Order: sequence, then C-alpha cells, then structure tokens
Amino acid sequence: MDQNELKKVLSSLPLGDIRYFDSIGSTNSEALAWATSGAHDLSLVIADEQTAGRGRLDRKWFTPKGTAIAVSLIMRPTPAERSHLTRIVGLAALAITDSLRTRGLVSQIKWPNDVLLNGRKVAGVLIESVWSGEEVDSLVIGIGINVLQGAVPAAELLLFPATSLEESLGPAVGRERILRDILAGIIALRPHIGSDSFISSWEKSLAFRGEPVQVEQGDGSVLTGKLLGLESDGSLRLSNDESSSITVRFGDVRLRPGA
Ligand code: ATP
Ligand code: BTN
Repeated sequence: MDQNELKKVLSSLPLGDIRYFDSIGSTNSEALAWATSGAHDLSLVIADEQTAGRGRLDRKWFTPKGTAIAVSLIMRPTPAERSHLTRIVGLAALAITDSLRTRGLVSQIKWPNDVLLNGRKVAGVLIESVWSGEEVDSLVIGIGINVLQGAVPAAELLLFPATSLEESLGPAVGRERILRDILAGIIALRPHIGSDSFISSWEKSLAFRGEPVQVEQGDGSVLTGKLLGLESDGSLRLSNDESSSITVRFGDVRLRPGA
C-alpha cells in the first residue's frame, strides 16, 4: 500500500493511532494484543500481507501481498454500545456494502460475516473481543477484502466461491480510498447501532432474503427454511415448512442457498 496516500486519506477521520505492516501474521492478533495493552478507541492495524490471516473458528483467510485490504479496527464500546455487541458484525458488513454501493456495486451480506458480490465472497469480517472480568473491554473488528484478483484463493481451497473488486471494477481500484470509506461508514453508523432502523438496513442487505436456505451446523446437522430476516440481536430468522419461526444464533454455522 502507498503509505503516504494512506496517511493522507485517513487524516480526515477521527481515528486513534495507526500501525502499518508490510507483512504480518494476522492484523487481528496484533490488534488484540494492542487492545490488551491499552490502545485508544478506533486505533487501526493495517497490513499489506497476512501470513496467518484467519476467519471464524481459526479457519484460514488468505491475504497475498499487495492485493487486498486487511485491517483490524479496535473499538472500546461505550456503556450503551455494550448492550448491542452482537450487532457489531452487521455494522462492519453494512459499512462495506455501503462503500461498494457508492462505486455502483450492489453487494449482499451472507449472514453472519461475509459480503457477496455477484453471489461470490468478496469480503469477510471477524469480530474478536478482549474481556475484563465479565465485561467486554474492547472489540477488534477484522476486515478482509479481495481487491485485486490475485487475492482470490484457488477454488480447491474454498468451500464457497470467491471474487474480487477487480473482477467488477477493473484494475484501477484504490485500496486506500475504499478503506477510508469503510472506516467513515463504521464511524457514521456507530451512533445508530441501537436503533430499529439499523436492524432494518442490515436486514435489507441480507443475501437470500425470502429464499430457501440451509444452515450447516458444527455438529454436521443441517437446518432448512426460508430466510425471513433478523432478530433484534442480529440472530437469523428462518421459517420452516410448518411456518414456525427458527432462530439461528451466532456460532459454528454456515449459510448456504437452499434447494
Ligand atoms: P463459508 O465461506 O464456507 O461460508 P464461513 O464464512 O463460515 O464459511 P469463515 O470461517 O467465516 O467461513 O471464513 C473462512 C473461509 O473463507 C475459509 O474456510 C476459506 O474457505 C475462505 N477464504 C479464505 N480466504 C479467502 C479469501 N481471500 N476470499 C474468499 N474466501 C476466502
Ligand atoms: C471470514 O470470512 O471468516 C472473516 C475473514 C476475516 C479476515 C480479516 S483480514 C483482517 C483480519 N485479520 C485476520 O486474521 N482476519 C481478519
């Protein structure tokens, strides 16, 4: 990444401190350690390459050098935000879809943590927390975006098809400005995280809304139903054949289009 350009475009945002790495294991690991040792709210870790990037449940997230956005934003939640921590993944995903919309791209959120473009995964969000006793002290919002096609892993490494912004926008995609827009979106949406309109915007952006889906669970079982929307905490709401409602909570679950 062009560090001068990065500094310039991020200077208009009320961020904390910024740590930039040409290469790192995982920006989320760095941010978790930094948050533990007292990083300010909205401090940011950015890397041009990750050698041990991760998704949920320690699955691998690939970030080859010079091709992607890999960042971790540290958030110190206010007491009001503490009541809505399960909405933070939606906050990040919505900021990503909003930033893509301003570039003419219609993307969807594959609940809980992926962003799809043309039905393929272009971005992922990983939220991790630092606890202080029984309370969350800080959150790390990890965001990975495939900007250039070189970021997209070989199909045999993937359980869900992937794409890049380059595939839709061509090669002249400035990573620095996209990152700025996403961070600006998170900062602008943050005061609204407790509102009903936040949930309805999140809901409107969901992939497969009104369609049959399958939810694969960690124990191998599969739930099927029509995707209705979200509960107030951001859990997923499905209806099954008997028209009763099923709530799918965050955890070891993977959403897929249904038959
Ligand atoms: P799925 O992607 O199968 O729906 P998931 O979203 O639950 O599952 P996560 O743990 O959130 O999976 O994400 C990690 C997965 O993302 C890995 O298992 C890998 O298949 C995929 N992946 C890794 N790197 C990339 C990348 N750069 N772009 C797209 N997908 C990737
Ligand atoms: C997913 O789809 O599972 C989420 C992937 C999240 C990847 C980002 S890249 C920046 C940050 N650092 C990591 O190790 N993971 C997140």
